[in-house]
Amino acid sequence: MSDSIDLASVDQVLATARSVRRRLDFDRPVAQSDILDCINIATQAPTGLGGESWRFVVVTDPAVKRRLAALYQQTLEELVVARGVEIKPTQQALVARLHEIPAMILVCNLGLPPDATAAGQVGYFGSILPAAWSLMLALRARGIGTTWTSLLAARQAEVAEVVDLPKDALLTVMLPIAYTKGANLKRAQRMDARDVTFWDQWGRKPPSS
Ligand SMILES: Cc1cc2nc3c(=O)[nH]c(=O)nc-3n(C[C@H](O)[C@H](O)[C@H](O)COP(=O)(O)O)c2cc1C
Repeated sequence: MSDSIDLASVDQVLATARSVRRRLDFDRPVAQSDILDCINIATQAPTGLGGESWRFVVVTDPAVKRRLAALYQQTLEELVVARGVEIKPTQQALVARLHEIPAMILVCNLGLPPDATAAGQVGYFGSILPAAWSLMLALRARGIGTTWTSLLAARQAEVAEVVDLPKDALLTVMLPIAYTKGANLKRAQRMDARDVTFWDQWGRKPPSS
């Protein structure tokens, strides 16, 4: 078929883009060309009315990484106290070495969310988070591990100060990146399509084929 693509590889990337927090090569810098190639893939994502409002801040400077890692750790600790959530060992492993990660990518959006309506939020975040997810997939395809992290979004003002974000730019997710080392990434246990899909009407099961 002329428009077919290599489904097995594409599906493998899509289905195995796990959070990688431990099996990372903390000693090997991530090539700038790999990062820029991945960003060029990410910016093929859908973009809303404002068009191309994504901006990416790649942080490799050890002093800047240390400051962001400290903010990340503080936010995590506060969350544990405020919500009584438990930090999983894997999350602990990442936070303990976050300052050593070869690079962090701050996925930012130019312009602030317009309002708190569902439509406003869907439009705003719908114009940036697909690019972040594409970025994660492009990284995965190149053997670069990462984790979707949102903790730093709670520290807009401090992050803005650390990396000089303009007032009208919002940090969404931060992707800590490193080449994977011995990671055997597999599909996660997730609900089956038939258990999460309705046909024609909410509650109506897909017809059996
Ligand atoms: C909205 C959102 C925010 C998240 N924030 C964090 C975070 O701040 N730190 C972290 O270690 N993982 C974070 N994660 C990753 C989840 O913990 C992870 O996706 C989940 O454990 C499932 O594992 P998997 O990604 O390997 O399927 C976040 C995921 C989502 C969807």
